[in-house]
Amino acid sequence: MTETRTDAGPEALRRRAVAALTAARERTALLTSCVEDGELTAQHSPLMSPLVWDLAHIGNQEELWLWRAVAGREALRPEIDSLYDAFEHPRATRPSLPLLAPGEARTYAADVRLRVLDVLERAEFDGRPLLRDAFAFGLVAQHEQQHDETMLITHQLRKGPAVLTAPPPPAGPRDPLPAEVLVPGGPFTMGTSDEPWALDNERPAHIRDVPAFHIDTVPVTNGAYLAFIADGGYEERRWWRPEGWAQIREHGIAAPLFWRRDGAQWLRRRFGVTEPVPEDEPVLHVSWYEADAYARWAGRRLPTEAEWEKAARHDPASGRSRRYPWGDADPRPEHANLGQRHLRPAPAGSYPEGASPLGVRQLIGDVWEWTASDFLPYPGFTVFPYKEYSEVFFGPDHKVLRGGSFGVDPVACRGTFRNWDLPVRRQIFAGFRTARSAELD
Ligand code: AVJ
Ligand code: FE
Repeated sequence: MTETRTDAGPEALRRRAVAALTAARERTALLTSCVEDGELTAQHSPLMSPLVWDLAHIGNQEELWLWRAVAGREALRPEIDSLYDAFEHPRATRPSLPLLAPGEARTYAADVRLRVLDVLERAEFDGRPLLRDAFAFGLVAQHEQQHDETMLITHQLRKGPAVLTAPPPPAGPRDPLPAEVLVPGGPFTMGTSDEPWALDNERPAHIRDVPAFHIDTVPVTNGAYLAFIADGGYEERRWWRPEGWAQIREHGIAAPLFWRRDGAQWLRRRFGVTEPVPEDEPVLHVSWYEADAYARWAGRRLPTEAEWEKAARHDPASGRSRRYPWGDADPRPEHANLGQRHLRPAPAGSYPEGASPLGVRQLIGDVWEWTASDFLPYPGFTVFPYKEYSEVFFGPDHKVLRGGSFGVDPVACRGTFRNWDLPVRRQIFAGFRTARSAELD
């Protein structure tokens, strides 16, 4: 279809795979060495695994896909496979399993890695689909980085003083931006068939006709969300879906997760530090129901997944879809707030160099963005390489999130990347922007 990527030779692929695996392991090491080992085995929230589970699960998945599936070798520790199978044991029950202790988990993951680097050194990247473009290595690096974001969420839920620090993101824009951007109607290419490390749910590329719509230039800010709260948004049933209304009533929810009112001021806790809610920052830790209610209150709606991707990738001048809003180049620090560099979203309107052709900002990085859409397969979807990654989650229960947060690495984030979660979830690094159909003009 419209996008292309220059074919990388085997040595370039090998270097890319080593770099991606190494970067992931450095991040994992950081997230699991900044607390005492006793905290790795504790459960900080029933929503999350103990960190030591993530650590050994990362190694176990790497063993399954690269040592066993790619290299055809025997299981290193067959007796532990079931402990680290995410489908056998729900997160809340994982602390009671006979998990590898922190030291054992580190040694196991390091042992797998040494073997895998040896496999990678000899691998040939043609022939089997798993090896084409070094896909399986990219899959495993993405998987580890996804768990690194999961572990960062666990750190956010953890009580106690700060153990993670990072420099602040760059300052926001000096000049005001238009509130919204008009995306003209017509077809565009959604998804991809030739992005080498794209996962099965992003494939194949296909044409979607998307009518004209307006979309917010920047994600909804804390300041805008505070106006919804001040206007009694959480007390008025008419803004809420019945399931969302039931959730906020049952749990007494009246603000984003981690917020607390102190007299006239709103405070929020972020990685062990309590601070006033910054009004110019994208709102974070809201459920799909909260995002949906805010949009209704604002006289708008959430963008569909197709609208989001068209705003992010469609270049009206050429008619083609880009890999990222700014073009086809891999993300650099000036494009987007990714990779746990800053540990918080940048002020709304930051990253002018990451803007889309039509001027929409911060589509990649900062906060995952809830969309209106259910998580469904694209026409022509085929499972690859395993149905438990995406296929078992397709259907109306999960809503799609797009764009990636400050907590996700570039290897697991691109214009076509699809994330999903239950609409009640609030601990993930999720915010949103709003849209409206243009035919209402
Ligand atoms: C794509 C983030 C929803 O964490 O459940 C990690 C990623 N899949 N291991 C998840 C994943 C298997 C997945 N999300
Ligand atoms: Fe996993």
